[in-house]
Amino acid sequence: MTTATLSDLVAGIQAEVVGYRRHLHRNPELSFHEEKTAQYVYETLESFGGLQLLRPTENSVVARLVGERPGRTLAIRADMDALPIQEENDFEFASQNPGVMHACGHDGHTAMLLGTAKLLAGMKDRINGEVRFLFQHAEELFPGGAEQMVEAGVMDGVDAVIGIHLWASLPVGKIGVAYGPMMAAPDTFEIRVKGSGGHAALPQETVDAIAIGAQVVTNLQHVVSRETDPIDNVVLSVTKFSGGSAYNVIPGTVEMLGTVRTLDPEVREKVPEIMERVVKGITSAHGAEYEFEYQFGYRPLINDDEVTRAIEETVRETFGDEALEIMRPTMGGEDFSAFQQKAPGAFFWVGAGNEERGIVHPHHHPLFTVDEDAFPYGIKAFVNATFKLLGETETV
Ligand code: NI
Repeated sequence: MTTATLSDLVAGIQAEVVGYRRHLHRNPELSFHEEKTAQYVYETLESFGGLQLLRPTENSVVARLVGERPGRTLAIRADMDALPIQEENDFEFASQNPGVMHACGHDGHTAMLLGTAKLLAGMKDRINGEVRFLFQHAEELFPGGAEQMVEAGVMDGVDAVIGIHLWASLPVGKIGVAYGPMMAAPDTFEIRVKGSGGHAALPQETVDAIAIGAQVVTNLQHVVSRETDPIDNVVLSVTKFSGGSAYNVIPGTVEMLGTVRTLDPEVREKVPEIMERVVKGITSAHGAEYEFEYQFGYRPLINDDEVTRAIEETVRETFGDEALEIMRPTMGGEDFSAFQQKAPGAFFWVGAGNEERGIVHPHHHPLFTVDEDAFPYGIKAFVNATFKLLGETETV
């Protein structure tokens, strides 16, 4: 579609899209509890007409737009959940749910996909095949809503899937695209070092869990620096270390929690075994025992080259070459990867930061917000990517 025409159409619904976003921002709901959000999305989609609506799981919504000509099926996904954070913004549309906040921009994702559905529903005669809008619950909390939606069959018959994330560290007007690995597998672990407690003045009568635990932390860093290929990306962070209760007591146990981030599924598979060998070696060397639990989280998000190329071309053609940023991967996680198990897909960033307007806070911060001027970029990218991926049919 010509950029001029699309710009007019998008400008025409911008106030509405901002309205959706502000409604969602005011009424955030936590992962797996998006009852009112899903209802709002369902009713809004219903008001557009021309869409087949489904509720594949309790808190998700799918809208199918079946074009007038046969063709492929493209799925477009937006996540809808908020975070357990107390908002500190003083917007008129600030969260009315204490301790719950849209602090990652998912309100904007949902609003942009609603706007996209509205525009495309009005262009049914130009659509080949099907556009399937996936409004997903629970991106922020493992095991995630995407996996549940996939199990419910939302990806059946889908040929390609795309999704976006508003990104505060990218200025409005920029679209970030990444080929191949884009986001990490966010796995988690729990370690307990079990020694034997006693008087702090008589260490010889104890097996000091703190001293041994500290060595476990240090030696776990060797998993990254000495046991994996430096060209592979691995993050291993111990994020909680707890034990002990008094200045004169050596504790018998310490507990640790942490996360491992990898981009390569093969590297990911081998990390737990190496970690356990290290934990076992250190604890047994000092006469302690251990417990080790490892939980695989979301899969790494790996973009398909062909779909990503279609997104890159869409960005260049719609916004000009200067809008495109080829991005490095980040070690954050995203359950969009679940949809990519069923069809080739591409996830991309839509710049939403704006220093001049003070929109500078990172995602998950109590003062986080997005620049609403980013929404037309997301909608135009979705609409033009749809025509690029499904093939454009000019109106007769
Ligand atoms: Ni997010």
